[in-house]
Amino acid sequence: MKTELLVTDPHHIDPAIIERAAALLRAGQVVAFPTETVYGLGADALNDAAVAAVFVAKGRPSNNPVIVHVADVSAARRIVSDWPTAADQLAARFWPGPLTMVLPKAPCVPVIVTAGGATVAVRVPAHPVALALIRAAGAPLAAPSANRSGYISPTRAAHVLRSLAGRIPMILDGGSTTGGLESTVIDLSVSQPRILRPGLISEAELRSLVPDLEGFSPPTNPAHEQSAAPLRSPGQLARHYAPQAMVELLPDHRSAAARVATLLDRGLSVGWLSRVEDVDSRANLRRVWMGAGADTYAALLYARLHDLDAVGVDRIIIELPPAGDEWAAIRDRLRRASTAE
Ligand code: TXA
Ligand code: MG
Repeated sequence: MKTELLVTDPHHIDPAIIERAAALLRAGQVVAFPTETVYGLGADALNDAAVAAVFVAKGRPSNNPVIVHVADVSAARRIVSDWPTAADQLAARFWPGPLTMVLPKAPCVPVIVTAGGATVAVRVPAHPVALALIRAAGAPLAAPSANRSGYISPTRAAHVLRSLAGRIPMILDGGSTTGGLESTVIDLSVSQPRILRPGLISEAELRSLVPDLEGFSPPTNPAHEQSAAPLRSPGQLARHYAPQAMVELLPDHRSAAARVATLLDRGLSVGWLSRVEDVDSRANLRRVWMGAGADTYAALLYARLHDLDAVGVDRIIIELPPAGDEWAAIRDRLRRASTAE
């Protein structure tokens, strides 16, 4: 299959391009498209066969449910069977935006979307291309991140191409995503709402509207990827959100510097993501400055890991960012990227 790349400026959307992508979606095909977090691989969420094609293209285990993207609250309400007050309040504050709510599913949602479960995850993305595509397709779009299962999520069309070229018919290229990390997933289908995946919206922001929120607790077995349905083969997803090179997390700058020196001495090529800005021209070393703040770090992280994989470094060394709510999602992704197989 040839993968077609269609470029559209998010600020001046070309309706003809959106229509070509929407026509594919209406015909039951899959299309990769930008959101404000990462690129998604979309299919008509109400069409079993179309959603199945997403699982095949990604190599995604069928017990991992996918997020459904809609254009507004009324479309969200059509795919759920309960819409609690908290959902209303969260939607008013955070939609369109990087918050995914898990709610009891409506009968119209195929079980392939929910991995056989009784709940569905839904969000309204804050990206003009995504919203235009959903509206033109005339259907909610089931869309996991547009990468081979287990690999780092794509924040540029080129990342999607590298992962899925030849496996999908079309990529809508709307430039770099601004957020850089996936949405926060909150479960509202249980009596005490809880965070299933930390993301761009912090726990503190959510707690202002949901005071009894149960915070995110990292899984003791990362293989479960916080999914409602247990994996049949634990360990399958042990390395999730992971680049090809082995990632080592070091507690601080000083220990990272020592580790880098050791690896260089052994003759390995090393990529080093650092929050300390410095020029370092040692051979075999690519030192990458990640900026000082969490927003910049999140926006850069996946692109920098993709870059290092493209170069083909042997090892990636990362300094663990500080504790603190605004770093929670980043720490979660770094932890998963570095989990040994
Ligand atoms: O930012 C994002 O969320 C991106 C963009 C494309 O929207 N999407 C994304 O999708 O990251 P994906 O499939 O890579 O991650 C979806 C997460 C998974 O951890 C999955 O287990 C969880 O959401 N999830 C989906 N449906 C669920 C459900 N019904 N119950 C619990 N967790 C669910
Ligand atoms: Mg993903």
